[in-house]
Amino acid sequence: MGMVRFGMATGTNDPLHDSFGRQITYLRLSVTDRCDLRCGYCMSETMAFLPKADVLLLEELATISEAFVRRGVRRIRITGGEPLVRRDIMTLIARLGAMIHSGARSDVRSGTLDEVTLTTNGTQLSRHADALAAAGVRRINVSLDTLDDRTFTQLTRRAVLSDVLAGIDAAQRAGLTVKINTVALKGINIDEIPAIIEWAHGRSMTLTLIEVMPMGEGMHANHAYFYPLTEMKDRLSTRWSLAPLPTRTGGPARYMRVRETGGQIGFITPLTENFCAGCNRVRVTCTGSLYGCLGHGQKVDLRAALRGPSPEIALEEAFAAAMIAKPDRHRFEAAREQHQPAVARHMSVTGG
Ligand code: GTP
Ligand code: 5AD
Ligand code: SF4
Repeated sequence: MGMVRFGMATGTNDPLHDSFGRQITYLRLSVTDRCDLRCGYCMSETMAFLPKADVLLLEELATISEAFVRRGVRRIRITGGEPLVRRDIMTLIARLGAMIHSGARSDVRSGTLDEVTLTTNGTQLSRHADALAAAGVRRINVSLDTLDDRTFTQLTRRAVLSDVLAGIDAAQRAGLTVKINTVALKGINIDEIPAIIEWAHGRSMTLTLIEVMPMGEGMHANHAYFYPLTEMKDRLSTRWSLAPLPTRTGGPARYMRVRETGGQIGFITPLTENFCAGCNRVRVTCTGSLYGCLGHGQKVDLRAALRGPSPEIALEEAFAAAMIAKPDRHRFEAAREQHQPAVARHMSVTGG
């Protein structure tokens, strides 16, 4: 077991380590649980969203982020729900963007960020692409599971594929590197995946495939959609020559190059090839819950810390508690065997 470091109350700049010795360098910050789509594997049509009064101010989310950066976080990914539906979100992104170092050696010091990124469904990207680039965001991940209009509308329960495609165009025009995230869904998009890869590679975009995870109360159907990416690799190998790449983005994807297209495919395999040993991340929700693992309910309340009498000390104490409680790994496989969700919480609460 690794050493647990307790923050020296206020003012500590020590890197955060969990009880397994893993350093936390990556924060996923969910700025809203709301979304303008209703993807079947993520939400029900009648999803109950959090009351606005429970949601932290952008100012408070910035304070939490800055505290994490002081403790060694180097990357922040903004997630939702759909982050771009939150009003004035660009002010937060610009504030976080200001912490990104310039790349010059003298500037790459502690207390700075290597990157601020965004995971979005793309529907609002056309409006925000230029501002994202101006805020210092250099790459974004756009979730897109199909290029077929009918399948898109069935899956997301909204007929807005053309908005997403226009958003991707706008992002590329603004100079952002766009990666496409595609959840592999048995019976829905498996046969279409090679065509989606060709489309992405034709536009110089990496495409990352994701195994659907059993999350969210009532989302039992996710088990029926599950398609192991080990099988997808075999399938794609009959068509293309795939070579493993050493590329790491700080996320869980493992990448391969496709010789014929010259592009890259990422594989995120929580169920078939566990990657938790290398976990470097925590999640904060828009109400200030700090989750140590995507697959567990264990959490620490940062909102209470932030709104109490001595926020700085309370935040440090909350971080220390979260480091002790962070689980070693998810248990999605067991949930799959039992046909249960691993956690009642929906994916939209943490944005993955
Ligand atoms: P980069 O590698 O920085 O490009 O991003 P990423 O792949 O880490 O983040 P993104 O938001 O694009 O997430 C893609 C998928 O990976 C989503 O389905 C997430 O739920 C999933 N994911 C991200 N982090 C974790 C993790 O720590 N554990 C598990 N099980 N899944 C994760
Ligand atoms: N399993 C895997 N990925 C999921 N996403 C949403 N719900 C699930 C799930 N149950 C994906 C979205 C998006 C990212 C944030 O998480 O499609 O790409
Ligand atoms: Fe919205 Fe993303 Fe969930 Fe789809 S997966 S409903 S786009 S939060």
